[in-house]
Amino acid sequence: MKILLAAQGVDLKAWQTALAQHLPQAQIRIWLPGDGAPADYVLYWKEQFEALQARAGVKAIFNLGAGVDALLKVVRANPGSLAEQVPVIRLEDAGMARQMVEYSVYCALRYLRRFHEYEALARQGVWQPFETPAPADFVVGVLGAGQLGQPVALALQALGFAVRIYSRSPKTILGIASFTGTDALAAFATGANLVINLLPNTPETENILNAAFFSHMQRGSYIVNLARGAHVQDDDLLAALAAGQLERAALDVFREEPLPATHPFWHHPQIEITPHISARTLIAESAEQIAAKIVSCEQGGALQGIDLQRGY
Ligand code: NAP
Ligand code: GLV
Repeated sequence: MKILLAAQGVDLKAWQTALAQHLPQAQIRIWLPGDGAPADYVLYWKEQFEALQARAGVKAIFNLGAGVDALLKVVRANPGSLAEQVPVIRLEDAGMARQMVEYSVYCALRYLRRFHEYEALARQGVWQPFETPAPADFVVGVLGAGQLGQPVALALQALGFAVRIYSRSPKTILGIASFTGTDALAAFATGANLVINLLPNTPETENILNAAFFSHMQRGSYIVNLARGAHVQDDDLLAALAAGQLERAALDVFREEPLPATHPFWHHPQIEITPHISARTLIAESAEQIAAKIVSCEQGGALQGIDLQRGY
């Protein structure tokens, strides 16, 4: 069996080693420009389109992340690619849900207990205790209730937060209010103290965090964006922070990455920045998941690909 690794910005040697542990018979090669030779499986992340051009015998493309937006952007710009002919499989959790839970719980507790303010006051030598609400009086909305959104919502619920979720299809989770579809978006945002974004980046979700959305939230509320930079209207976010409608934003993802040195988000006193690390692709877990799917496919099992039209 031939596996082609066509990925940028990842440790290809480590991927080769991890895959070989689970698939010792496989020939695993790293894609180089000009390589149009046959492959059974392509493992893809942010490579040139050429790597996705039709080649004989491919059974599936594995996306080395949860979000498929970068791959779909390449596909839309170049119709007729391999990804339109064979299933595209994304990573499902593979250790990312735990990381998203850690990041989200950290932010929720930080804002609930006002640790961000104590940090600033301590630097000024100011002793100033605050009254803070109980978690049950702090409404946290999680946009997206999939592989990553649901574990985040459940972890916050376990800590006593008043949790609500927003998704395309309704969810039944005891104690968590489910909001579905664009008509329910304003109701979902209304009165929220904190919104954590874990939606996929699709034409329907782009710019979803905008002035109208912020206006429905509680005054002095918080945004945590862990999904994609394209979900946020940057200027609307800056305006909502300046007006006090939002108190802070924690941003892990940006329209342009790395965030350009001149971008106003850098050094903004109400914005916390991390460099797209809220949930990293863990090579050992991910290689194990992909290898198990390849073994299943080789034994005649069906592979469940993403919906190219829906975009996730
Ligand atoms: P997922 O399992 O596909 O879940 C997506 C969720 O979003 C589902 O609940 C889906 O609703 C909902 N959704 C999609 N389109 C919607 C729409 N138009 N309106 C309302 N709800 C909608 O995806 P995931 O694995 O949780 O990952 C989510 C995203 O996180 C990825 O796409 C990626 O962009 C981002 N991510 C970021 C990092 C990072 O390090 N920053 C790491 C990993 C992933 P249904 O349940 O009804 O289908
Ligand atoms: C990372 O951003 C991913 O989509 O896995």
